[in-house]
Amino acid sequence: MKPTVAILGAGALGEILAGGLLRAGWSPDDLSLADRREERCSELTERLGVVCHLDPVLAAAGKRVVVVVVKPKDVPGLLEQIKDDIEPGQVVLSLAAGVPLSVYEKALGEAAVVRGMPNTPALVDEAITAYAPGKHVSEEALNEVASVMEAVGKTVVLDEQLMDAVTAVSGTGPAYVYLLAEALTDAAIREGLPRHAAQLLVDQTLKGTGALLAETALSPIKLRAQVTSPGGTTAAAVHVLEESGFRAAIEDAVRAAAERSREMGEAAGNASGVAGE
Ligand SMILES: NC(=O)c1ccc[n+]([C@@H]2O[C@H](COP(=O)([O-])OP(=O)(O)OC[C@H]3O[C@@H](n4cnc5c(N)ncnc54)[C@H](OP(=O)(O)O)[C@@H]3O)[C@@H](O)[C@H]2O)c1
Repeated sequence: MKPTVAILGAGALGEILAGGLLRAGWSPDDLSLADRREERCSELTERLGVVCHLDPVLAAAGKRVVVVVVKPKDVPGLLEQIKDDIEPGQVVLSLAAGVPLSVYEKALGEAAVVRGMPNTPALVDEAITAYAPGKHVSEEALNEVASVMEAVGKTVVLDEQLMDAVTAVSGTGPAYVYLLAEALTDAAIREGLPRHAAQLLVDQTLKGTGALLAETALSPIKLRAQVTSPGGTTAAAVHVLEESGFRAAIEDAVRAAAERSREMGEAAGNASGVAGE
């Protein structure tokens, strides 16, 4: 059975999640939204047919899964609003980047809390969400959280200490791929391809390669070996990329994103009086 869901914070990700749940068969009656801007609330109710409250307590009332989708800086304020109204049967799923479970557990006491990190391919039901359960989460609650996030893609359970790395790899990951797409499109145009053809070649290459990676059991090394003939074009191109530090640049970028996520978590912990991880 599909758990009822409240989405607190009806911004970009909140809307994506609500849309995904509706596509996955949730009834609008089993969902609720909360946002602090009246016009945003009415716009979403009109578009999605889901009730939207200005008061997050009203949105959360009676819902099994309460998803927190506000910016990290707004989490302490939101917790202050809902802290006395979370019931034992409810599970709070935080999608706020970098905010530790300890911030929620301090504000909400014994409440079941799960920290998750999805990514924007949720818009086309191709997200990956990693999530970490807090201290008071039952198996049933964890299954409910999984079913909510599986509406927009795949899921994996990990320890909370790995969430900054997850943020850096898959949360931020789409931006790395967009940058690659931009660079490859520019390179294609430089080689004389018309823009529309360059975009089509790049988009479909990324989509097809992603599908191969996800759908075959082969590692990227094996898949790359399959397209690398001795003395051929791929070998020449990969040599240039390796020599230019492509691999090290990716590793440094991921390290920088993970460190930033850690700093944001510490700031959120400090703002709420709880030390970050
Ligand atoms: N977008 C992504 O790709 C992505 C991916 C993974 C995780 N996340 C996480 O998801 C969270 C939301 O991101 P977003 O991009 O969707 O942000 P967003 O577009 O700013 O949406 C947040 C919404 O929540 C509203 N809000 C803030 N405090 C509230 C309160 N107390 N009660 C009701 N509504 C409240 C905001 O109103 P105002 O406009 O007035 O501020 C805004 O409409 C962030 O913590 C982010 O780290 C995002």
